Amino acid sequence: MILEVREIYKRFGGNRVVEGVSLSAEEGEIVGIIGPNGSGKTTLINIISGTVREDEGDIFLAGRKINNLKPHQRAWLGLGRTFQITRLFSNLRVLENVLIALHYGGRKRAGRRQALEILEMVGLDHKADDFAGSLSLAQRKRLELARALALSPKVLLLDEVFAGLNPQSVKEIVDLLERLNSERRITMILVEHVLKALFSLTKRVIVLAEGKVIYEGDPEGMRESKEVVKAYLGERYLKNEPS
Ligand SMILES: Nc1ncnc2c1ncn2[C@@H]1O[C@H](COP(=O)(O)OP(=O)(O)OP(=O)(O)O)[C@@H](O)[C@H]1O
Ligand SMILES: [Mg+2]
Repeated sequence: MILEVREIYKRFGGNRVVEGVSLSAEEGEIVGIIGPNGSGKTTLINIISGTVREDEGDIFLAGRKINNLKPHQRAWLGLGRTFQITRLFSNLRVLENVLIALHYGGRKRAGRRQALEILEMVGLDHKADDFAGSLSLAQRKRLELARALALSPKVLLLDEVFAGLNPQSVKEIVDLLERLNSERRITMILVEHVLKALFSLTKRVIVLAEGKVIYEGDPEGMRESKEVVKAYLGERYLKNEPS
């Protein structure tokens, strides 16, 4: 297993946000995490990447326990992430945003050429000299992805990369993720509400509700789980989710 998360618990004040969650991913696998708002998905991503400290539980990356490592140390070991709310430097240029990520990732001598290569990977090289603040949402998501890729991740944690995008942009990012997964064998953990896009990328999903795993398996079985329909899908079926 490239990533193994065992029995994670986290509470904020009296609020139990993650309760005994375990998950693992094999090298090259794509795993989906879904669940209602507030079910603990982002908190779990934050715990794996190290920005939030778990109360209990263990995290292993390629067999190495990483609980006690800081976020940047985890990043150096190959754990990349994107943020649900993009964290870009709007007042800097697109290329500079990637350069900063390269330097953070230990590539102190990386220059314009390396940054451009990464921008090319995500289809944003033509925007290299624009300010990040001038990008569309879809482009900001690509830049967020480029920044994660600058650290040459083995495992990429993606928190709602499709949120707010139109169907065409969703499809383009699905294709991009597929390519990164097959060409670079990047393992991906995708937190997502856009289920159609998620299911086109993976057949293995984990459903969280109130901090607990209530289902793990393929999307078909998930639709038959009474618990999942009650906690999550029911509401979506009624809304007749367009995606
Ligand atoms: N730093 C924090 N301090 C206190 N409570 C927090 C903190 N971060 C998250 N929470 C709470 O923990 C719960 C889970 O939040 P989290 O962001 O993990 O949910 P989520 O599944 O990612 O939701 P969404 O689908 O809306 O993004 C929520 O009740 C949230 O208010
Ligand atoms: Mg979230």
